[in-house]
Amino acid sequence: MKRYNFSLRFFLILMGILVLSSIASAQQNVKILIVYYSLSGNTELMANGVVEGVQSDSNATAILKKVDEVTTADLDSADGIILGSPTYWGNIANPMKEFLDNTGFWGGKVGGAFSTGAMKTGGKEHVVFSLIAALLMKGVVVVGPVYDFGAFQSGGLGASAMTGPPDDGVSESELDDARALGQRVALIAEQLKSGAIVNNVISNNELLPKGFSLQQNFPNPFNPETKINYELPSTLKVLLRIFNELGEEVRTLVDKEQPAGRYQVQWDGKDNNYQPVATGVYFYQLYVEGTAQTKKMLLLK
Ligand SMILES: Cc1cc2nc3c(=O)[nH]c(=O)nc-3n(C[C@H](O)[C@H](O)[C@H](O)COP(=O)(O)O)c2cc1C
Repeated sequence: MKRYNFSLRFFLILMGILVLSSIASAQQNVKILIVYYSLSGNTELMANGVVEGVQSDSNATAILKKVDEVTTADLDSADGIILGSPTYWGNIANPMKEFLDNTGFWGGKVGGAFSTGAMKTGGKEHVVFSLIAALLMKGVVVVGPVYDFGAFQSGGLGASAMTGPPDDGVSESELDDARALGQRVALIAEQLKSGAIVNNVISNNELLPKGFSLQQNFPNPFNPETKINYELPSTLKVLLRIFNELGEEVRTLVDKEQPAGRYQVQWDGKDNNYQPVATGVYFYQLYVEGTAQTKKMLLLK
């Protein structure tokens, strides 16, 4: 009887380990980029709160960057992007506006926004709205923090902190909002990446692509933007790059693992340093698990 108990216990422990390891392998690791501008440190404090929220999720890595330090590699490799700005005259700070103007499409990423402002009704919510509008225009799936009140859950649009009198700086409850925002973006980014959100709907309709394919860009010829579509039949590591006629790499558009599905990427006609490239023939190449497909396009200015 004792022997039976022991082997039953051993069997249950083994099953537990197997179940846990299969759950772990279904989870996706995500990178969340937090981009902020801060002059006197308040927005930086909120950004640190967002980082803590992201890192409370063991499958997420937070990358914290000042707005003028963000590279194309940071943007291309991020699964999520969270923007933060102080309020200047009721609006987004200029360096953040310029960053939004100078960057292209972020389709497929998850995002959110936060702000700080000295006054209660001085425009910090307007800054959150404006950042969300910019994220939506860039094709981002925007989410906000979710608060658990036990009996029910309630949602927020983003996070903001009132940094002026009577309680200067960023309070602990405002930091909690920032943490909740980071946590939510990380969670939804994981669900999107694992296909738990989109692919369930698609696979139920049996609409998943049957093979790996790269389509002709459109418009073509183009100036300065064009769109590239491709399809993946399963989760694959994808490298989509643009080359010039000399075979030199001009821009990396995608360099990450992606679940089965149909994808559209926009090229803004800029190189890896955000500089506009010259008129001419360019090649875009989709490299997936040892196979490459290449197509030609024409930039006419
Ligand atoms: C030029 C300037 C304009 C500002 N305009 C506003 C405003 O319109 N509304 C507001 O609530 N706060 C305003 N503020 C206050 C800042 O938004 C606030 O101090 C913010 O927390 C600063 O962020 P930082 O510490 O990250 O630089 C302004 C500050 C400056 C310097």
